[in-house]
Amino acid sequence: MLRGHGRLLRVTAAPVAALAVALVSSLSRCSLLEPEDPVVSALSPYFGTKTRYEDANPGLLPNPEAPRRDPELLEETCTPVQLVALIRHGTRYPTAKQIRKLRQLHGLLQARRPGDDGTRAAGGRSLGAALANWPLWYADWMDGQLVEKGRQDMRQLALRLASLFPALFSRENYGRLQLVTSSKHRCVDSGAAFLQGLWQHYHPGVPPPDVADMECGPPRINDKLMRFFDYCEKFLTQVEKNATALYHVEAFKTGPEMQNILNKVAATLQVPVNNLSADLIQVAFFTCSFDLAIKGVKSPWCDVFDIDDAKVLEYLNDLKQYWKRGYGYTINSRSSCTLFQDIFQHLDKAIEQKKR
Ligand SMILES: *[C@@H]1O[C@H](CO)[C@@H](O)[C@H](O)[C@H]1NC(C)=O
Ligand SMILES: *[C@@H]1O[C@H](CO)[C@@H](O)[C@H](O)[C@H]1NC(C)=O
Repeated sequence: MLRGHGRLLRVTAAPVAALAVALVSSLSRCSLLEPEDPVVSALSPYFGTKTRYEDANPGLLPNPEAPRRDPELLEETCTPVQLVALIRHGTRYPTAKQIRKLRQLHGLLQARRPGDDGTRAAGGRSLGAALANWPLWYADWMDGQLVEKGRQDMRQLALRLASLFPALFSRENYGRLQLVTSSKHRCVDSGAAFLQGLWQHYHPGVPPPDVADMECGPPRINDKLMRFFDYCEKFLTQVEKNATALYHVEAFKTGPEMQNILNKVAATLQVPVNNLSADLIQVAFFTCSFDLAIKGVKSPWCDVFDIDDAKVLEYLNDLKQYWKRGYGYTINSRSSCTLFQDIFQHLDKAIEQKKR
């Protein structure tokens, strides 16, 4: 899935070749935990794009800076000429829209009548009461910004790539590296963190300067390339601004599977089912993932859902991405042609220079 905000990274070994780097992004995740003691929820496999990277790839846990493959094995079988990486941003805060919905849900919980008990939480208190008292630590200003864990994601990714392709990331190639990013703050910040990770690779133990003072310069912003979907008229008309384009998603939101979850959650939390909606339920589900990823805690929101609920909510998110970003409409993928043309042109150029 090429959901928006990205960065693109390009590194070439040929001395004359330019190094451009871009990154694509739009995730969320992660915790400040000891690697040996990760807080996990049984719901973790169902978070889709909100999955912590280390949950998707537990191999990252023992040493997040070590490449997952043997660099020598790679260099024996082929000679890397250029590296182009399309990278999503690191772990981020919820968006302002998600935070508003969460606040609405919190208000609903606090408006419960005294004496409403519902399902008991682990400590014997009702889950509704536990959630009403659970701190709402997200504020509007956070609006999808990169969190410290997200910076760490990017620094560690840079170190892994540099170790995996030592010839490409040689000291003399450093100044030729290019990073292209979308203008989303979480992507610009991810790009800067990536460069700071590389700085660590070249200057171990030396604190990195401001990215503006780095040899390769700060990430270049190019929304036409990295947010191609915002510039594709056909996509905007047929999908993005089309109120009926996601009718399958709307149908599922009001269908029996979702209604079943609404009824269950209303009973569990002792709130009127009419005050709940599929959108609020989805935010509650993602709050479990955000609390895990950002705070490293398993919040009571994770106890609201069982595995069957998680499968339905995962499907709802997949369905939306299928119609909005994936195979649902042909224009969804076609809108990325400019980006892939750019990537292939740079690869062709690198091969040509290598042949000469
Ligand atoms: C719940 O819904 C009722 C009407 O359906 C509305 O009057 C009430 O304000 C809602 N409660 C909250 C806390 O939003
Ligand atoms: C909006 O989407 C619907 C469903 O795919 C489609 O039938 C309709 O033609 C679209 N409208 C525009 C303006 O493209």
